[in-house]
Amino acid sequence: MSVRPLVAGNWKMNGSRSALKELSAMAEGYDAGLKAKVDLMICPPAPLVFLAAAAAIGTRIAIGGQDCHTEASGAFTGEVSAEMLADSGAGAVIVGHSERRQYFKESDALVAAKAAAAIRAGLAAIVCVGETREEREAGKALSVVGRQVARSVPEDATPETIIVAYEPVWAIGTGLTPTAADVAEVHALIRKKLVSRHGKQAAGIRILYGGSVKPANAKELMAVENVDGALVGGASLKAADFLAIAAAY
Ligand code: G3H
Repeated sequence: MSVRPLVAGNWKMNGSRSALKELSAMAEGYDAGLKAKVDLMICPPAPLVFLAAAAAIGTRIAIGGQDCHTEASGAFTGEVSAEMLADSGAGAVIVGHSERRQYFKESDALVAAKAAAAIRAGLAAIVCVGETREEREAGKALSVVGRQVARSVPEDATPETIIVAYEPVWAIGTGLTPTAADVAEVHALIRKKLVSRHGKQAAGIRILYGGSVKPANAKELMAVENVDGALVGGASLKAADFLAIAAAY
């Protein structure tokens, strides 16, 4: 099945209202040639979602959140629900990013509940998985990622509701990347797990690679089988870099 690729940018806890000029520059550079080949999404910090979504109207750049609570509303001070993101104009939300798993001790079960909340709110959930350096060195990368996929992706996943992002923790923000062969091996495993649990339609679920994707390595990484796009951190903060990555397709 041919899957339309997605290049998504995760701005993490970076950016202010002035950063929206980068979004405008992305929209300007997202020309007909690129639009024909690849979807683009930017996930700014929560306070910028509404403004970014307003700025993105008519550009075909989707806007996503970076996390959500499992409940739609209630006494959860400081939290943002999937419904609130949808109401602000988001079309998707990242869940289970390794920084959430590591610093906020998020479990696979919580990530699955957040993904289910996203679907309930009409958002697509970008479910992140990936092994640590220690796990890779111990030869456990496939078993760790396989377990995370099985436990973090909700039962009713479809290509419209779920995107999986493989992000080896040791590759995030380090300039290190796995070999193309290692990426291929993990993405093939993720595809196999998705199809065996969610049926043939799961061949259409997009599996993104993330971790030090840059203009210089995007072509090689995006050419790997079962890599249906990228989840880009640092290089998504500047329009020129982000567009150059998208142009790898
Ligand atoms: O969500 C994005 C990833 O954590 C990748 O970040 O491109 O800065 O390594 P990075």
